[in-house]
Amino acid sequence: MEDGFKREIDYLRISITDRCNFRCRYCMPEKGVEPKKHEDILTFEEILQFVNAAASLGITKVRVTGGEPLVRKGVVGFIKKLSSINGIKDVSMTTNGCLLQDMARHLKEAGLNRVNISLDSLKSQRFREITRCGELSKVLQGIRAALEVGLTPVKINCVVVKGFNDDEIMDFVKLTQEYPLFVRFIELMPLGERGWGKNRFISAQDIKASINQKLIPTGIPAGAGPAIYYKVPKSLGSIGFITPISQHFCPMCNRLRLTADGKLKPCLESDIEIDIKSAFNENKSEEKLKSLFKQALEQKPLRHHMTSEQNADHFRKMWQIGG
Ligand code: 5AD
Ligand code: SF4
Repeated sequence: MEDGFKREIDYLRISITDRCNFRCRYCMPEKGVEPKKHEDILTFEEILQFVNAAASLGITKVRVTGGEPLVRKGVVGFIKKLSSINGIKDVSMTTNGCLLQDMARHLKEAGLNRVNISLDSLKSQRFREITRCGELSKVLQGIRAALEVGLTPVKINCVVVKGFNDDEIMDFVKLTQEYPLFVRFIELMPLGERGWGKNRFISAQDIKASINQKLIPTGIPAGAGPAIYYKVPKSLGSIGFITPISQHFCPMCNRLRLTADGKLKPCLESDIEIDIKSAFNENKSEEKLKSLFKQALEQKPLRHHMTSEQNADHFRKMWQIGG
């Protein structure tokens, strides 16, 4: 299935909740946010119906995101149904890892293939500072559990923030020498608390330059995603760079996003949203869902226009879109 610019679209990211048990500074305001009312959030049944329609149009990969997806009740049962939808070959999740230790095995058994875990610092004090309430040890246990039960490849998302965690880049690199992890350094996008990210942007090029080890390209293409991977000598894992700002990867974009409140977003940044929730409220058929999906495809813009410093108050934040 192609969009208006001949990009093959086979990937759907589904945010199942806008709630989160962390308050990462680049993502959420301190007091948290007014959670959406229960009736405004898509039910699991509705999401499954929508994915059914999307799969019949050519979606083969889905990623479950949030907020924090593991805080939504019934998520394991949902994954089980999601992974058994005809045509869906890959089910993954992006999580902050905090609840993963106890849930990893259940998720794996339910058909989840793999997880991406957000981790911006390996120092517990700092980790608490950026997440405002997260406990590092829990996340590390979650990562171990994911490796143990085979939610692999386990990818670590590390947003690099100048003056905050850029002195830990080598520690993250070392992590790939000890564990078979894919560590991805992500450029900070101007989506968080107003003013917080100002002057804290570091380009992937500068991150790369600060790694004083030989970086061997793995030849693993971006895969479904936008990262480019390297290895350092004697490593079990790999290192990747995600460059939403310095080198926007829009030409390779393969995805649409569904928000927890039932809006289909053709692009992370753009204001265009196709309302799916109201189609359910009106009890519309699978044909209607398919046509809404096609509408989003047609409206998918060529590229985003984010820069590192702009004031992005009008964007939906990550907790609303799920990354
Ligand atoms: N800039 C870059 N990455 C972000 N994420 C959340 N907010 C931002 C931002 N402002 C990342 C999280 C998570 C992924 C879904 O998106 O770290 O790993
Ligand atoms: Fe929660 Fe992820 Fe946002 Fe952090 S980045 S507050 S873990 S949704």
